[in-house]
Amino acid sequence: PAHSNTFHKGRLTWAGEAPCTVRKTDYAFEMASSNIRYGEGVTREIGMDLQNISAQNVCVMTDRNLSFLPPMKAVLESLAKNGVKYKVYDNVRVEPTDSSFKDAISFAKSGSFDVFVAVGGGSVIDTCKAANLYACHPEADFLDFVNAPIGKGKPVIKALKPLIAVPTTAGTGSETTGVAIFDYEPLKAKTGIASRALRPTLGMVDPLHTLSMPERVAANSGFDVLCHALESYTALPYNQRSPCPPNPINRPAYQGSNPISDVWSLHALRVVSKYMKRAVRDPEDLEARSSMHLASVFAGIGFGNAGVHLCHGMSYPIAGNVKTHKAGGYSVDHPLVPHGLSVVLTSPAVFNFTAPMCPERHLEAAEILGTWASGFVKVKDAGPLLADTLRQFLFDLHVEDGLTAVGYKKDDIPSLVKGTIPQERVTKLSPREHTEEDLSRLFEASMKLY
Ligand SMILES: NC(=O)c1ccc[n+]([C@@H]2O[C@H](COP(=O)([O-])OP(=O)(O)OC[C@H]3O[C@@H](n4cnc5c(N)ncnc54)[C@H](O)[C@@H]3O)[C@@H](O)[C@H]2O)c1
Ligand SMILES: [Fe+2]
Repeated sequence: PAHSNTFHKGRLTWAGEAPCTVRKTDYAFEMASSNIRYGEGVTREIGMDLQNISAQNVCVMTDRNLSFLPPMKAVLESLAKNGVKYKVYDNVRVEPTDSSFKDAISFAKSGSFDVFVAVGGGSVIDTCKAANLYACHPEADFLDFVNAPIGKGKPVIKALKPLIAVPTTAGTGSETTGVAIFDYEPLKAKTGIASRALRPTLGMVDPLHTLSMPERVAANSGFDVLCHALESYTALPYNQRSPCPPNPINRPAYQGSNPISDVWSLHALRVVSKYMKRAVRDPEDLEARSSMHLASVFAGIGFGNAGVHLCHGMSYPIAGNVKTHKAGGYSVDHPLVPHGLSVVLTSPAVFNFTAPMCPERHLEAAEILGTWASGFVKVKDAGPLLADTLRQFLFDLHVEDGLTAVGYKKDDIPSLVKGTIPQERVTKLSPREHTEEDLSRLFEASMKLY
């Protein structure tokens, strides 16, 4: 059955009664986002911001590649101009792991920093969030805050230091979210830490930084925006998610689709549809690259509160089990299936599978992405229509032909399924319930796309 108009169900409780004692599913949702400042060249203000909060000792994090590029130069110039004292950590790993997080955490712990600045894509921003979190909780064990069931998923109670995020990709939206993702090497699958407390204080979104992105980084980070928008818009509605939290501190950051996230996610999808191909193909197209930078913020606010589901849940073992695949355009010395690519490769199969639960949302998405879905299109065709639309979109942007093209064979499917099972935090937000056999079939259907 369609579920997309079920937000305004009748009240299930009487006034004064604690709702979660009488119902299993949640009845409320909460919107959280960082402050966002957007503008061409706005990075020049960061030194003043740090002065305004009387920063004494700033930790600036980035990755080795970016440490030589214009975004870092702009940040350090502004810090120098405003007499801000800082130390640089440029050892962030592209697609971080538990050990790379721990290295950054020990740098943060040893420096007694009072403010953090992250200059980079999701890898840098996420690493910086974790470094700030554990530097403020020196007694905590690393797994304490990591999502259950891999970690203990403890709520963050202490306030963290201010963190200013300067995103250089148009992708993760990490500047808006309370999420930090890493590859947990013992399980060969990604997991993360999710708490509103991790949100950056300010996301400084300067579109000039996107101009230096190589073509494949622009493509893959753009696919991340696409999937954030699509998955959050089609996620299980917040009032069908269980359990109902007994205390608001237990309400997860990813709550399920909700009327406010819908606005952000749909708008992000429209921007992706209009500008993504231009942004990938022409690195000098400032209008397109700026629009995609904003789209990553819009989608970040949408999915940061609604969550993502199967494409992301299944992407974590795709990234974690990588064997030898080299990501073209990425200056890294390790095998890598970049996040956006690992997410989008299963998208045709996933949305074909989820469409029966909310077909009109899937049809709407196909239409936004340019497929004419006339009034004659049957509800049952929503899945195939969106899947075909996505396949064409990926083909036009020269995406690898499915999981086989990034090094996977049918024999790998059981380990890919095994790595998806612990990703409940997101897979439970799938609008359609699924078994391990369903997951196997989705991986199998994603082996080749075209
Ligand atoms: N926290 C969240 O909410 C969230 C959401 C989605 C993804 N993620 C995580 O973020 C990571 C991926 O981040 P990403 O896609 O932003 O890429 P990234 O940070 O991994 O960077 C990819 C590559 O692009 C380079 N690069 C970045 N910006 C550049 C620029 N402006 N010019 C030239 N080169 C540039 C980097 O040096 C790196 O080599 C993954 O670990 C993923 O799991 C986090
Ligand atoms: Fe993502």
